[in-house]
Amino acid sequence: MKYRVLGRTNLKVSLVGLGSGGPSRLGQSTGVPESEIHRLVRTALELGVNLIDTGTGYGESEAILGRALRDVPRDGYYIATKTRPERDGQILSEDDLIKTVERSLQRLQVETIDIFQFHGVRPHEYTGVVEQLLPVAEKLKAQGKIRFIGASEMFFDDGKHEMFQRALTDDVFDTVMVGYNLLNQSAERTVFPLCREKNVGVLIMIAVRRALSKPARLREVIADLKSRSRISADALPEAQPLDWLVQNHVESVPAAAYKFVAAESAVSTVLTGTGNLDHFRSNVDAILGAPLPPKDMQRLREVFGHLDESLGN
Ligand SMILES: NC(=O)c1ccc[n+]([C@@H]2O[C@H](COP(=O)([O-])OP(=O)(O)OC[C@H]3O[C@@H](n4cnc5c(N)ncnc54)[C@H](OP(=O)(O)O)[C@@H]3O)[C@@H](O)[C@H]2O)c1
Repeated sequence: MKYRVLGRTNLKVSLVGLGSGGPSRLGQSTGVPESEIHRLVRTALELGVNLIDTGTGYGESEAILGRALRDVPRDGYYIATKTRPERDGQILSEDDLIKTVERSLQRLQVETIDIFQFHGVRPHEYTGVVEQLLPVAEKLKAQGKIRFIGASEMFFDDGKHEMFQRALTDDVFDTVMVGYNLLNQSAERTVFPLCREKNVGVLIMIAVRRALSKPARLREVIADLKSRSRISADALPEAQPLDWLVQNHVESVPAAAYKFVAAESAVSTVLTGTGNLDHFRSNVDAILGAPLPPKDMQRLREVFGHLDESLGN
């Protein structure tokens, strides 16, 4: 495993992080039995993964992780969880946030959450988060219930990263979970420079998602970009638009997509949201292995580098 420092938290985190949300939710979405999920979590730890991301909105993920990690020494992993800052269009009350964090502690069977994140903060929710919820999170931090405070963005509504551009300018979070993939590379221009400047830790989500793991979905996404003249009609082949990336040590399009994000030096951890042990092992090999050849990186930048819309789903 490779380890990188997660910004100002100073936590040394594994470059591969295990995500328990996304379309897979550790395989909960496809009926993977809990015993297999425990095996996946144990394998991840054996391979050196020390960062696991979850959330109150990911079905039973928190509770499953709590059971899977019950016998693992608490210094063997960092747990990041999160909750939406709004419910029914209203910012959570102080009491709601405290109860939510207490519930996460109980479900995860831990005494402290290493990274507590506001989940999918939309630009219009940002002020409420900062003015009403951040002070509550600070109190929870002073009580030792959480160690660091971060946020994730609502990437599929905010492909331009407006919320993080404000938050990083205001410098309110220790960590950011950013939507970044080879189709929308815009965080390189608008988010990562601020993270470097403010020493904020970067976790990557949506490196692969559906568009880069399901060939039919990729064809649709590319055809749509061409039909709207967002990329040129002859930029990529119709049938297997990204198969030219699969060569030598690059075994698949998902592998290429994970390699693309791992090459960015601002990134501390790349989350992989799989419930499939074979996929997980391949993804670890892809992230830790040799990068994409410079000429392929160059072509990806030429084809997609100007896009800043929500892409990946
Ligand atoms: N706003 C937010 O806060 C937010 C939003 C999205 C994600 N996240 C976090 O970030 C994590 C990662 O994002 P993501 O889950 O969207 O994940 P991702 O890692 O980009 O993609 C996961 C999807 O790709 C499939 N996949 C993974 N590896 C594969 C492989 N080698 N071959 C074929 N298919 C493969 C998975 O299905 P299989 O199970 O079949 O492998 C799953 O459907 C989430 O789990 C969550 O913790 C946060």
